[in-house]
Amino acid sequence: MNTSRPVSAAPTRVAIIGAGRGGTALLDLLHQISAIDIIGIHDRDPSAPGLQRARDLHIPVVDQIDDLFRNRHTQLVMDVTGDPAMDQQLHREIRPGVDILSGSASRVVWELVRHESALQAELLHAEKLAGIGSFAAGITHDINNPLQLILGLAENLAEETDLHNVHEQAREIVDAVKRTTAICRDLTSYARRSATHQQSLVDINSKLDDALRIARYAVGFQDITIIKRYAPEATLKGNPDELLHVFVNLITNAVQAMEHGGTLTLRTTAEETAVSVHVSDTGCGIPPELLNEIFEPFFTTKPPGKGTGLGLYNIKHVIHQLHGTITVNSEVGSGSTFTITLPRASVTL
Ligand SMILES: Nc1ncnc2c1ncn2[C@@H]1O[C@H](COP(=O)(O)OP(=O)(O)O)[C@@H](O)[C@H]1O
Ligand SMILES: [Mg+2]
Repeated sequence: MNTSRPVSAAPTRVAIIGAGRGGTALLDLLHQISAIDIIGIHDRDPSAPGLQRARDLHIPVVDQIDDLFRNRHTQLVMDVTGDPAMDQQLHREIRPGVDILSGSASRVVWELVRHESALQAELLHAEKLAGIGSFAAGITHDINNPLQLILGLAENLAEETDLHNVHEQAREIVDAVKRTTAICRDLTSYARRSATHQQSLVDINSKLDDALRIARYAVGFQDITIIKRYAPEATLKGNPDELLHVFVNLITNAVQAMEHGGTLTLRTTAEETAVSVHVSDTGCGIPPELLNEIFEPFFTTKPPGKGTGLGLYNIKHVIHQLHGTITVNSEVGSGSTFTITLPRASVTL
């Protein structure tokens, strides 16, 4: 989804040479900017990772550099190969009216792209920490309950003489302590900074269950019925911490939209090449004119303390990084469904 604001001037037509890490990062960034049209990409290595990324984005992959200039009205060639021979070749073959960005200029752009990606990671973490602020009440409740139980059992134990009862109550205390430990474990794993580019095989169904537990700390689930329709084998390669964050955000939004109760449905579907997650609510819905706005940074309809307006913006970023898509279907007064579709295959960045 391209959510950059429209600009009046015609987009600049850019060709990229080099589809390694630099070219891929450039592709990912530039394709989100509506003022830029990527008209093609070339790498002399046909297995360069950026070429597959380009195909996924429907950007032409060309075998010959010359093809980047022929009939494509290219205005700028960005050479991120770092190869001095390429630089010379480009200067020899370049057509009039086409600018070249290579050598140290291209390295500066690469640094800017890296900087932008570091900022995105910071933003993701900051938004997560802002959300955790609202967990206090939920956590206090969930830790206080077992603590009260432990207190009562310990008081009983002090008087208990029957050995069988002592064992029974000791077991109950152990269970109660395990429950509080589980809460702490959930929270520490959620709050930690996710390692960027950390990829592993993620079981999407169990991630949704984890997210459900964590979202309960953030929002009240009173009068919410939960329906789960999980497909077996819904697994994919991805960053587990980031996916958890995405699901917590979607579930929190869904529950916040159902102020007077309703049904939250979590559904997964698994196909050979992709896994989809559908998060549906029967809440207030989203007016059609806001459907694009909701993905913009800082767009929120919630009072301060309940929303930052960064949730969906960050979700969109994480999903794009995994080469997936996010769509929304909504009807005012009936509810909304957010659908995320992610490729199963490993993503090389
Ligand atoms: N499930 C939903 N139902 C209705 N509105 C929603 C839903 N999810 C998101 N929205 C709308 O999109 C806005 C932006 O969501 P988000 O980026 O998560 O920020 P925040 O939740 O902090 O407001 C919300 O303020 C809300 O107006
Ligand atoms: Mg939100």
